[in-house]
Formats: sequence, structure tokens, C-alpha cells
Amino acid sequence: DKGNHRHFMEKEIHEQPEVIAHTLAHYLDFAGGGVKSFDTPIDFAKIDRLAVSACGTAYLAGLIGKYWFERYARLPVDIDIASEFRYREMPLTKASAALFVSQSGETADTLASLRYCRKEGVPIATIVNVRDSTMARESDGIFPTLAGPEIGVASTKAFTCQLSIFAALAVRAGLERGTLSPEEASSHIRALSEAPRYAAQALKLEERIEKVGRELSQVRHVLYLGRDTNYPLAMEGALKLKELSYIHAEGYAAGELKHGPIALIDEQMPVIVIAPCDRIFEKTVSNMQEVAARGGRIILITDEEGAVRASLDSFETIVMPTVPELIAPIVYALPVQMLAYHTAVAMGTDVDQPRNLAKSVTVE
Ligand code: F6R
Repeated sequence: DKGNHRHFMEKEIHEQPEVIAHTLAHYLDFAGGGVKSFDTPIDFAKIDRLAVSACGTAYLAGLIGKYWFERYARLPVDIDIASEFRYREMPLTKASAALFVSQSGETADTLASLRYCRKEGVPIATIVNVRDSTMARESDGIFPTLAGPEIGVASTKAFTCQLSIFAALAVRAGLERGTLSPEEASSHIRALSEAPRYAAQALKLEERIEKVGRELSQVRHVLYLGRDTNYPLAMEGALKLKELSYIHAEGYAAGELKHGPIALIDEQMPVIVIAPCDRIFEKTVSNMQEVAARGGRIILITDEEGAVRASLDSFETIVMPTVPELIAPIVYALPVQMLAYHTAVAMGTDVDQPRNLAKSVTVE
């Protein structure tokens, strides 16, 4: 049931404040500022390496999770696309654990990767939305996303719930490994507790984003840029645009621009930059200046301070609420999803059922 929404995707985008809150409450004790004692087959204090693998949007959630585990828990993370992992014969040591990410819990390549890790004899956990799925059954334990059924083929609310769990797990791992003090952990947990409220604020930008989406529906190519955790989010933005609107889009690390893709820039190719005003904002601004100098059209997704500090001659902005750094990719996921959605609606494509795609990819 779509309720009063035009598409399941629109409904699922709008459910995010609620399902993020629901998911986080399963893992974090907001009142006490600590982590709840949930079951985990992975002993974060004992392992020295975590292998994460998944496909598509779930893989991109894992890529953001890597930044968090490494930054807050000092735990090295290997992250792979499952179709590569399953054949790459990665050696897993006794002190490793494997973590999979899947909305459906049925994706063939991710399941095959899980079975490879089973043979290697390491503990296996899965961040999964469908609790009675094959991957849930074959894991030693699961971290459920409480997103509810996701019907739209393009993953939206499952993604932000996956991110919420990665953040919660990174905080738990940081505490258990002694790399975060209880005070630092509490401050991250406070930040996470605000994610649903900021997500709700981001939804209010819909009219503005709809207008940008109408403009994007006129172009053939788009470049998406970001740094740090917003780099995988740029790839997610590009993936969403491709699958929904069939516009050719690429997500790049902003710092990689001058190593090749800058050659593509001209008046015809908009560059969408995801850049909250954080400690590396100025670096991204200088990448934007390189784009502007070549006549590129910039659409900057930032906060109020970022919009002021970017100070370029001509660029469009989508101005987000100012959010704590940890939760930026969770909150900024919403405008990125809405932009793909509204571009696709403006083009008249089948948003809930894009051509050539299936919700659950159970063949290789
Ligand atoms: C993109 C999308 C896909 C899935 C991928 C993995 O919007 O939905 O890229 O994320 O097929 O699916 P699950 O998470 O079910 O393993």
C-alpha cells in the first residue's frame, strides 16, 4: 500500500526518520548514552581485521562503514563487492570476522561470499532487513535493520538503516577496543539520536530538489563528487541516478577529479558536490573551483555555512541542516535519493520498477 504517495520509493524515502529511529533504538541506549547489550557473533575486541562484502547500495553502505570502523575503533576493514570477493580467494586469518550487508538476504553473490567465509571458519554476521532470509539463517548472528518491507526496487530506507547500524557497531567496537572513551561514545550516540530529526528536516527540501531534478532530467551525463564518507555517498547518488533515470552518472572522490575525470567537464555536464562544512570542506571547495574554471555547472549539497564559504561565482545550492559529522552521510542520503527520484519522475521513467532490474538478484 502506497498510502498517499505516488510511488513506493517516495513512501520509503519519507519513512526514513521513523525507521532510522526504530533501528537505532535497537542498538543504542539513548537515555543512558551507551550501547545496548545486543547479541553479536563478532568479538570486536579480539579481531584484528573485518571483511565486509555486499552488492550495489549495500556495498556502498559497507564502504562508509569502513571509514567509521577504522576511524572510531581503529579496526582495519577490507571491503569488497561480493561478486569479486567470492572468487578472489582472500586469506582470512583466525583473528578475522566477516560481515555481510543485504536488504533481501538472498543476493546470490553475497550468499556465495558468506559460504566462502563459512569454509574459512571465521565468525559470520549479516546486517539484513529480511529476517527469515537465507543469509540470516546461514549467519552466526544477524544485525537486523528495522526498515520494514522495502518494495521499490531502488534501495532507500534499507540503506540509511544499514548506515545507522554501521555507526552503532563502530561506536560499540570503539568502546570495546578502548579507542573511544565512554564520553566520546556518548557524544557519538547523542549525534546518532538526532539523525531522525535531521532526516525529517531534509525531507522538507523536497520542493527545491524537485526543481533541480527537473533540470537534471535534461542532461545526459552527471558527475557526483564527495570526500571521506561522502565519497561513497556520491557513488550512491550516481547509482541511484543511473538506475532510476537512465542518466549516465559517475561518483568520484573529489580529490581524484584532477587525475582524469576533469577532462569530461564542460557546460553540458553538471557536477553535484556533496560537501557539508566539515574539516575537509576547503579541499572540496578547491575542487569545485577547478570545475567552475572549466565552465562546469555545480550543484552543491551543503549546509548554511558551506553555502556561504563556498563563495563561487555561479553555483546552485541545496542547503541542508547543520549536522554532526558522524551522521552526515545518513542525513545527506535523503537529498541524494530525492534528487534521483524527482529526476526520474520528470523524465517519466518507471520509478518503482526500473528497466532491466530486479529487487532481489538471486542469480549470478
Ligand atoms: C540499488 C539497489 C541494489 C541493491 C543490491 C543488493 O538501489 O537496490 O544495488 O542494493 O542489489 O541487494 P541486497 O541488499 O538485497 O543484497
